[in-house]
Amino acid sequence: MASSSDPTHDTVAADAAYDAMAAEYAAEGEENAYNALYERPATIALLPPVAGRDVLDAGCGSGPLSAWLVAHGARVTGFDTSPRMVELARARGLPGAAFSVGDLGAPLTQFADDSFDAIVASLVLHYLHDWVAPLRELRRVLRPGGALVCSTHHPASDVELSTTGDYFATELLHDRWEKGGTTFDVRFWRRPLSAMLASIAEAGWRVDRLEEPQPLPACRERDPEAWARLTTKPAFLFFRLVPA
Ligand SMILES: C[S@@+](CC[C@H](N)C(=O)[O-])C[C@H]1O[C@@H](n2cnc3c(N)ncnc32)[C@H](O)[C@@H]1O
Repeated sequence: MASSSDPTHDTVAADAAYDAMAAEYAAEGEENAYNALYERPATIALLPPVAGRDVLDAGCGSGPLSAWLVAHGARVTGFDTSPRMVELARARGLPGAAFSVGDLGAPLTQFADDSFDAIVASLVLHYLHDWVAPLRELRRVLRPGGALVCSTHHPASDVELSTTGDYFATELLHDRWEKGGTTFDVRFWRRPLSAMLASIAEAGWRVDRLEEPQPLPACRERDPEAWARLTTKPAFLFFRLVPA
């Protein structure tokens, strides 16, 4: 993994940040507006049928999506750079699911070609500077007829954090997240939509669906602040990709 002091490296040292906030992130993510009422439902809505299928959860975190997948009949393999996150995913005791430490920014040598019927990469791609090599690897391990569903920070929303204010730049951004009363430093890459689409095409994928969804209606009452924000400013962007 890259050193957190080396912003030129392709991968941000997200494992260190996520290791530090694993328990807080996992607990909040089960119920909060951004994950439970917005990101996860939108990702799930883009998935192909998963019952009886082999599904890869790349950047699985503590496994909330893996839990949904297993509950809906999938055989799940998940990996994440954060050992703490992987521990939390394993602690769920999901039948038939296997979790390991792994880096989407490196070749996925642990997986043979054509290993999975579907792949989900939820909120992980923005930790990678280069998208082409990881997307090629995901393409390699996907079986014919499969699909990759991924979500990422929305480039228009993240431009608010940019120090250059240049929408067209691909740049490393810094943010501070409050989780469980503690503040954590996080860093991720922002790039324009055109750069995302260019990498997707170069890696051999075609965009089947692109979504800028609304949160679930329950968000209005449970978190009016998040509702006001998410219904007027997209936080994340969602793709369903199929081999070109
Ligand atoms: C925002 S969390 C999302 C976790 C999970 N997908 C979910 O929806 O709850 C991002 C996750 O990506 C992981 N991650 C960051 N960079 C990664 C990389 N290069 N390879 C694999 N996982 C990575 C982090 O450790 C963290 O668990």
